[in-house]
Amino acid sequence: MSDKKNKMWDGRFGKPTDKLMEEFNNSLFVDKIFIEEDIFGSIAWAKALFGAGVLTKNECENIKKGLEKILEKHKNGKLESEFLPSDEDVHMAVERLLGVEIGDLAKKLHTGRSRNDQVATDFRLFAKNKRALLLKDLRKFLESVYNRALKDKNVIIAGYTHYQQAQPILLSHYWLSLFFLMKREYEKLENIDKISDVSPLGSGAIAGCGFAIDRFELAKNLGFSSPSENSIDGVASRDFVLDTLHNLASIGISLSRYAEDLIVWSTKEFGYVELDDAWSTGSSMMPQKKNPDSLELIRGKTGRLIGNYTRFAATLKGIGLSYFKDLQEDKEPLIDSFKTVEITLRVFSNVLDTLTINEKIIERTLDPFLLATDIADYLVKKGMPFREAHGVVGKIVAFCVEKNKKFNLLELKELKEFSPIFENDVLSFFDFKNALKHRDVYGAAGPISVEKQLSLAKEFLQNRG
Ligand code: ARG
Repeated sequence: MSDKKNKMWDGRFGKPTDKLMEEFNNSLFVDKIFIEEDIFGSIAWAKALFGAGVLTKNECENIKKGLEKILEKHKNGKLESEFLPSDEDVHMAVERLLGVEIGDLAKKLHTGRSRNDQVATDFRLFAKNKRALLLKDLRKFLESVYNRALKDKNVIIAGYTHYQQAQPILLSHYWLSLFFLMKREYEKLENIDKISDVSPLGSGAIAGCGFAIDRFELAKNLGFSSPSENSIDGVASRDFVLDTLHNLASIGISLSRYAEDLIVWSTKEFGYVELDDAWSTGSSMMPQKKNPDSLELIRGKTGRLIGNYTRFAATLKGIGLSYFKDLQEDKEPLIDSFKTVEITLRVFSNVLDTLTINEKIIERTLDPFLLATDIADYLVKKGMPFREAHGVVGKIVAFCVEKNKKFNLLELKELKEFSPIFENDVLSFFDFKNALKHRDVYGAAGPISVEKQLSLAKEFLQNRG
């Protein structure tokens, strides 16, 4: 146990905090990550206190200078060595160090403020800055996907459902499905940014500030659109954390599904793609191995993203209003999820940029049955109800399977035995390229539609340039 009391709040305490409690309570090792936001927030707070007549201009200036000195030390890497075990968190550390810099004047800074509104403000600022960086990473990733789609627009590949060959598609169409999915993640992140854009500072501990500060001016100085409307909500709400964690988990889940496909496509059995050596690893025992670890880790790390969301959702669920120390647990999951998604996006971009597409294997693997739906559509166009056409083509498929015949090599005579509607023009329907030409409605897998999607994708990238 420490032998003296040494806390800023220990006036009412009869003895010092137990060392173990000190360790348990400490969050400096985590929240030091937003020391810049904390200092920035304190400078804005000093200005608000000056505006309210609590500080003189001179006092405000001196506090600002002191805080700037601390910031400079931090930037030069000289601050951490000055932290003490009794500094509970970044807010306490900065306030104590300000005292070291400017003496007793530092004692005026915390007037009308609580760490409850301070931490909510710092963390909102931190999350906002991180989201801005993530939007940049997401945009870069979207660019890689777009370039991939541009490159592969002449490659016809089997489209799968249930990992069974379903219908032919352009490979670009597949990449563009990733583009539009990630575009939505981008837009979700922008929306989260928009609805979290409020400043809790001035909410005090729970009931608001007792000094006449201008919260609108303060919010503006901090770079927020407006102050929070309610002081309880200001200190207690962490939906901005939960929404962001959810978005980050959702990005992971989305990427993980594409990683899964590419892992399967890179197997010997598929052989559709080959990862660049720089984005694969080997085996310590089997000399021949080249493993798609980059993609496996993208898939694997999604578990921790989901975990980070669930972990904090579970913590938040039971916390009444307004502030409880449980809320201190909000930071690590968000910091970890941002870090994980940042690196995941960068790795995945590189995998896509360097991926080899084995067009010959892809072409060789196209099963003529991929055209079965097109043949049914042919019959429909000639007047047969679809359900009937489905049955006719089903029988042709069964015939081919039984007689070991190639679906696309059947003669007109043989087809006519299943329906007299078949005519010579059906033969052109047994061609993959032709089939894709019939897939040109908005959003479909054919070349005209894919061009349209590429132009929509390009427009999005230009708008967010
Ligand atoms: N370190 C705390 C957190 O991260 C902020 C301090 C609030 N503490 C308090 N006793 N009200 O949430």
